[in-house]
Order: sequence, then structure tokens, then C-alpha cells
Amino acid sequence: MVKVIIHNSISLDGALTGFMPDMALHYKLTGKYRADATLVGSDTALSGFKLFGMPAAETLADFIKPKRSHSLPFWVIPDTRGKLKGLLHGCRRFEYCRDIIVLVSEQTPREYLDYLAERHYDFRIAGQDHVELKQALALLVKDYKVKTILTDTGQTLINLLIEQDLAAELSLLVHPLIIGKQGLNIFGNLRDKKLTLLGCKKFPSGHIWLTYKLK
Ligand SMILES: NC(=O)c1ccc[n+]([C@@H]2O[C@H](COP(=O)([O-])OP(=O)(O)OC[C@H]3O[C@@H](n4cnc5c(N)ncnc54)[C@H](OP(=O)(O)O)[C@@H]3O)[C@@H](O)[C@H]2O)c1
Repeated sequence: MVKVIIHNSISLDGALTGFMPDMALHYKLTGKYRADATLVGSDTALSGFKLFGMPAAETLADFIKPKRSHSLPFWVIPDTRGKLKGLLHGCRRFEYCRDIIVLVSEQTPREYLDYLAERHYDFRIAGQDHVELKQALALLVKDYKVKTILTDTGQTLINLLIEQDLAAELSLLVHPLIIGKQGLNIFGNLRDKKLTLLGCKKFPSGHIWLTYKLK
């Protein structure tokens, strides 16, 4: 059984967006989990490119699978609509990413599957329309022996994982900020859920790291 941990930076009033998270602290905490894979939302990847800049044009080197340490996590990206067509090499180039695995569905355009195949990106088909998440997690366990997955996603995928009871833990880096109405709330339209507090760590900067058991 794979353990999925939802990890996010939020404001004190639960906003996921509308502020720049403390990236150094955010990613320092992810290192503690030693996850085999990071589940990256396709819109999170896109927003990263918009924020930090589009990747430079592809070169022949981008068609080759990187040979990196097996201690690094795979980046697993559900992208059934091919939003990252022409951009995935920007993800593959990250030195802390072992390689990319794309999750697609029966609806995914043929041109996107061809794009992935030409560049030797692993992809798995799970689901008719969007990715069937439970089935996709089972494939990752079977094909890649993944035991722990950490998320790097926004509200959409967080809420789906919680709704479908697929996440075991919630890890929240609370920033000492109130964002107000312009921020997107992490829990969106989720219904009530009981949690068990696992840990609470205070940093001199005013950030608090809260961890909860979800199921
Ligand atoms: N503060 C933080 O810690 C933090 C972290 C990450 C992101 N963010 C912010 O969050 C925002 C992006 O969040 P978002 O909620 O828009 O997107 P997201 O969660 O990053 O991406 C949505 C993901 O959900 C998948 N999906 C959509 N509907 C689905 C369904 N019915 N079943 C299965 N999978 C489904 C999409 O796949 P398809 O492409 O196949 O539809 C996509 O991979 C950005 O502004 C980003 O900066 C903040």
C-alpha cells in the first residue's frame, strides 16, 4: 500500500495562493519524507513556468532519459489534456527529479502520446476521462515499487485525494500571513473531516509546521 502525504504551504487563513511561500523551508521539509515520487499537478507545473520563466528551447539531450540517483523521487504528473506538451523538458531538467512519469487517460490526444513516446517519457493510462487516481497509484506501486508519494499540487488534486480517501497524511507549513479573499483556500469545497495531530514545530521565522493523520 502506498502512503500519500499532502504537503503544502498555506497562510494562517488557509490560502494556497496569493503569496510567495518560503521555498527553502517548504522544500527542506519535503526532504524529511524521503518520498519515492512527487505527485505534481499539471496546473502547478504550468504556474511554476509562468512564475519562474518558460524553459529554454528543447535540445537533443532532452530526448534522452536522465541517469540520476535512484534516491531521487520520480515526478508523476497527471496531464490528460497534454497541457505540458512542449514544456515537459523543463521539468525533466530539474536535477532533483529522477525522471518524469505522465499519467494520462483514454481521452488523451494521440499527438501528446506521440510527443511523450518520442522523448522516452514513461506514461501510464489510467481512467476514461481524467486520471482514475486509485488505479494510477496502484500502477505506480506495481511498476515502480513506489512506497511513499509526496504531493506538489494545488486545491484541485489535494481535494480529490482527500475526498477519495487516498491520502494518509497532511503536512502544512503555515506562514505568518493573512491573505484574505484573493487567496484560494486549500480545502475548497471539502466536507467535514476529522484529523489526528501528529506533530507541531515552531520556527523562529514565525512559520509553524503542522502534520496530521488523515485516515
Ligand atoms: N502553496 C502551495 O503549497 C502550493 C503548492 C502547489 C500549487 N500551488 C498553487 O496552486 C495552483 C494550482 O492548483 P490547481 O488546483 O489549479 O491545480 P493542480 O492541483 O496543480 O492541478 C490539477 C490536477 O488535477 C488533475 N485533475 C483535475 N481533475 C481531475 C479529476 N477529476 N480526477 C483526477 N485528476 C484530476 C489535473 O489533471 P489533468 O491535467 O489531467 O486535468 C491536474 O494534474 C497554482 O496557483 C499553484 O501556484 C500552491
